Amino acid sequence: MNWPLHAKRVRSSRATLELNAASAAVSPAPAVDALGVCPLQRVGNTPLLRFESLARGMLHVQVLGKAEWLNPGGSVKDRAAFNIIETALRSGALRGKRLLDAISGNTGIAYAMVGAARGVEVTLCVPANVSAERKRILAAYGAEIIWTDPQEGTDGAIRLARQMHDAEPDRYFYADQYSNDANWLAHYHGTAAEIWSQTRGAITHFIAGVGTSGTFVGTTRRLKELNPKVRAISVQPDSAFHGLEGLKHMPTAMVPRIYDPSLANAMVEVSTEAAYEMVKRMVRTAGVLLGVSAGAALVAAEKVAQQAAASDHVAVIVAVLPDSGDHYLSENFWNE
Ligand SMILES: Cc1ncc(COP(=O)(O)O)c(C=O)c1O
Repeated sequence: MNWPLHAKRVRSSRATLELNAASAAVSPAPAVDALGVCPLQRVGNTPLLRFESLARGMLHVQVLGKAEWLNPGGSVKDRAAFNIIETALRSGALRGKRLLDAISGNTGIAYAMVGAARGVEVTLCVPANVSAERKRILAAYGAEIIWTDPQEGTDGAIRLARQMHDAEPDRYFYADQYSNDANWLAHYHGTAAEIWSQTRGAITHFIAGVGTSGTFVGTTRRLKELNPKVRAISVQPDSAFHGLEGLKHMPTAMVPRIYDPSLANAMVEVSTEAAYEMVKRMVRTAGVLLGVSAGAALVAAEKVAQQAAASDHVAVIVAVLPDSGDHYLSENFWNE
């Protein structure tokens, strides 16, 4: 990603101290540029993986997946959290305040990671049924967590975050990832540009699940500007009660302000069971351990691939794979 942070070439403080000591003596020591990369510079620029088994026997079809778990916090949400925090720091909206938001897991890890690295204190409202692994990771990063009723899902967490902000507006900067334009803009400037150059402009279909919808909205908007013929397919759970962590069943959920359903050429509903099956199939046949919403995206990608092959169309299908399966290893479907 081309964020301002990257532009800064800093000298390590140790090198600077040595430099000062040396110049006080006889001759200045040679300047030493900081080596390695700042962890936040690793946000974005994820690889595009080819899933040959999903297009086997299809002459003109490729199925590709954006490996978002390779972001430093382990998910696609690093992109949004990074841009939300950087934008708020630049505008002064975070001055003297804690960041507050409602999250379902990955965003919390991303906020906590970026917050730790940028010196921003973080308070998160989180449904108590997020996986055991996620609870531990959130605790490790040291963010303040307020658990909310699992029956109310992320919508319950959103209601609580709003109440807390209304009660103490001077204490909290309410990041509100569901309404914050910095969320989808992270994908407009980052994810879409990467997919465009990684496919050398050959992408024909873009597929992503919708939670806040930042990934789908931002990436689709930019890809359609680059080529209006790109077809955008959104992925949703097939019912209100589902196990596709991170995704929303829009007909029954609080609809995010940044969501624009008119961007989608099609919407594919995926069952939790089909996503679980795809996760098991990919780890055992492709050697890739995917998260459940990534499994759902590949269920939709396989469907699109079959349709393209049946009508003998050329198709370069790119699906966003938000996180890896290591966050879901305690789920029961592994024993079935
Ligand atoms: C695992 C997972 N998949 C998909 C999504 C959806 O991404 P977005 O919020 O950009 O729609 C999220 C969001 O938190 C997620 O955690």
